[in-house]
Amino acid sequence: MPAEGVHRPAWLEVDLSAVRHNAGALAAIAGPARLCAVVKADAYGHSTVPVARAAMEGGASELAVALVDEGVELRDGGIGAPVLVLSEPACDAMDDALALGLVPTLYTRDGLEAARRAARGLGAGDSRPPLPVEVKVDTGMHRVGASPDDAVELVAELAAAPELDYQGLWTHFAVADEVSSDFTGEQVSRFEAVRARLKAAGLPEPRRVHAANSAGAIAWPSSRYDLVRCGIALYGYPPGPEVVPVLAEELARVGAAPLRPVLSWKAKVTLVKEYPAGERLSYGRLAPLSERCLVATVPLGYADGVSRGYFAGGGAVLVGGRRCPLAGQVTMDQLLVACPLTSGGRAGDEAVLIGSQGGEQITAEEWASRLGTVSYEIVTRIGLRVPRRFLDGTPPAEVAP
Ligand SMILES: Cc1ncc(COP(=O)(O)O)c(C=O)c1O
Repeated sequence: MPAEGVHRPAWLEVDLSAVRHNAGALAAIAGPARLCAVVKADAYGHSTVPVARAAMEGGASELAVALVDEGVELRDGGIGAPVLVLSEPACDAMDDALALGLVPTLYTRDGLEAARRAARGLGAGDSRPPLPVEVKVDTGMHRVGASPDDAVELVAELAAAPELDYQGLWTHFAVADEVSSDFTGEQVSRFEAVRARLKAAGLPEPRRVHAANSAGAIAWPSSRYDLVRCGIALYGYPPGPEVVPVLAEELARVGAAPLRPVLSWKAKVTLVKEYPAGERLSYGRLAPLSERCLVATVPLGYADGVSRGYFAGGGAVLVGGRRCPLAGQVTMDQLLVACPLTSGGRAGDEAVLIGSQGGEQITAEEWASRLGTVSYEIVTRIGLRVPRRFLDGTPPAEVAP
C-alpha cells in the first residue's frame, strides 16, 4: 500500500507531535524511572517507525516489540535505539535477534540455550562483550513467563553463561487498570518475593527491574521501578476508565497537558443519495430509515477494521460536523451513513470515523464501548490497506474525492 494512498479517499492521520507530547508526559510521570515506548503491532496500528522515532524524540529511552520481525522493521527503518522483545523469540529467530542488537526476553530453558548458542556464534563473551537478555517472571498474569521456581533455575544458568549479560528481570500486570483491585499490589509482592529468593540464592542482581504497563506507570507508583513500558497511553488513550482520574492527577502533578489521541480516521464521502423513511439499506435490510434522509457512502468497511458490530452497536460517523448514524449493515469496503436532509451533504465531504469535526468527537473508547471491547483492539484492527498520513503540527494535504 503506498503511504500516500493516492487512489483511496480514506486514510489515518497520525499526529507525531501528539506522540512526542504523550511520551514527554509519561516520562515525567514515571521519572526517575525511564520510559520504554511499546511499538508492537505496528505501533498499535499507528505505524512502527515514525511513531518509534517520535516517541524517542519525546522522551522515551527505548522501545519494545512483541516479535523479532517487528524489531527487524525498526532496524531496517534506521532506528538504533535499544529494543526489548517482550516475548521469548523462537529458537531459530534468536540469531537474527541478537545479531541486530535486539534484547530478547527469556523464560524457558530452551530459549536460554538458543540465546547462548546464538551469542556464542556471534563471538559474544570471547571477541566481543556478552549480549544483553532479560528474564520474565510470571507473577499472576499466567500468559508467558517463568514461574518463580523456574526463574531461580533460569537466572542461575544465565548468571553462569559468559556469553550473555543478565540485563533485566521483569513481570507484567493483569489488572493494573483496575485501580480498586488488590491484585496489582499482590503481583508486586510476588515479584519482590522472587527478587528476594534470587538474592538469597546468591545470584547476581539484574542491572534493572521493571513491571509497569501504562496503567501501572500511571496508577501504581510502587511498580515504576527502573523502567515503565507504555503502549496505550503513548497513543493518547487512558488504559481504562478507572485510570482516568488518577491520570489527571498525575498530569497535574508534573504540570503536563492532557494526553492527546494520536490517530484520526477519515475518508471522503464517495456518493450521496436521498431515500424516504422506511427504506431498508445494505445487506440483510436490517432496519428501516426513521426519516427521509441523505445517505452518504463512506469508502471504508469491515476489511479495513470497521466491525459489522458497529451498526448493531448504534455507531455513528461525523459528516458536516454532525453525528450521523450508520444507515445499514457495514459491508466489506463501504458503509452507509444517514445524514439529515438539511445537511446538504455531497460527495467529497469529509467523514470522520475517529476524531473531531466541528464541535463533535468520536473516540476509540466510544467505539470500544459500542463493540464491547477495549480501545487497544479498535486501533490495532484498522487495516493496513488504510493509508497512514503523518502530521507533525501541519495540516494534512487535501485528498481528492
Ligand atoms: C509485556 C507488555 N508490557 C507492556 C505492554 C504495554 O501495555 P499498555 O498498552 O497497557 O501500556 C504490553 C501490551 O500489551 C505488554 O504485553
